[in-house]
Amino acid sequence: MPVVDAPPPTPDSFGKLVADPSEVRSGEHVKGDEFLERPLTETEIEMLVDGLIRDAAPEEVMNVSVNSRSSEFDIATTALAGNGWCVVPDFLSQTQTQALSTECMDMHDAQLLTPARVGADRVATLLRGDSTRWFQPEALSTRQQAFADRIEALRIALNRDLFLGLVDSESHYAVYRPGAGYARHLDCLRNDDSRVISAVFYLNEGWQDAEGGALRLYLADQSYHDVFPRAGTLLLFLSAQFEHEVLPATRDRLSIACWMRQRVHAEARAQL
Ligand code: OGA
Ligand code: MN
Repeated sequence: MPVVDAPPPTPDSFGKLVADPSEVRSGEHVKGDEFLERPLTETEIEMLVDGLIRDAAPEEVMNVSVNSRSSEFDIATTALAGNGWCVVPDFLSQTQTQALSTECMDMHDAQLLTPARVGADRVATLLRGDSTRWFQPEALSTRQQAFADRIEALRIALNRDLFLGLVDSESHYAVYRPGAGYARHLDCLRNDDSRVISAVFYLNEGWQDAEGGALRLYLADQSYHDVFPRAGTLLLFLSAQFEHEVLPATRDRLSIACWMRQRVHAEARAQL
């Protein structure tokens, strides 16, 4: 495993980052201009990790009593429990993945994705060079629905097996043009610890490692693991624990980024 020689980002280099307006959506969960682009302090991480073990939501408790344990996501949940991250190959069929890839690129070509950079700050484009479009939960396309259904099955399995108390998820398409990347960061919104699991699903048929574009996941011992964005691959990791970055690629790089969320209690909000 290669060793990371770059130091972690300082709060100064990342703390000023705020999300673009496409991140700002109505609703109670996301405070879009408060995207946290700095490593959490140890105290913050402890708070988030402490929050991971929660009671299952009532509907999942009922599922446990009526269903025998499904083995479909057992490998993933076991790996996630042990390491905090895992890769699920073939999360959707090739046909389903291809359909999502086509839709994502068509939307991109129709200029329906928004550059996910920060205001007029040109440095921000270097830190984050993708364009995104959020899935609208009330208006999913058929192919988005197939992804959402599978994510929902995984969410319920995670709640049942790991008691994560995940109440919902949010997803967006992302396109990185050649040369674009996303600097090392944590997937947390400042003053909002609702994101528990980060899930990234890749849509790129025939990806070659030499084309770059790896998601570099920084592990606790400061080594890292590179995941290439091959069609059908789903990467899962604990949002609060793993800094990661997207390395630039030599071709368009398409993905769906998804976050599974826990309910944030009023008392927890008040303390932040
Ligand atoms: C993100 C992110 C990773 C990827 O959107 O926060 O880290 O591989 N994406 O697209
Ligand atoms: Mn991220």
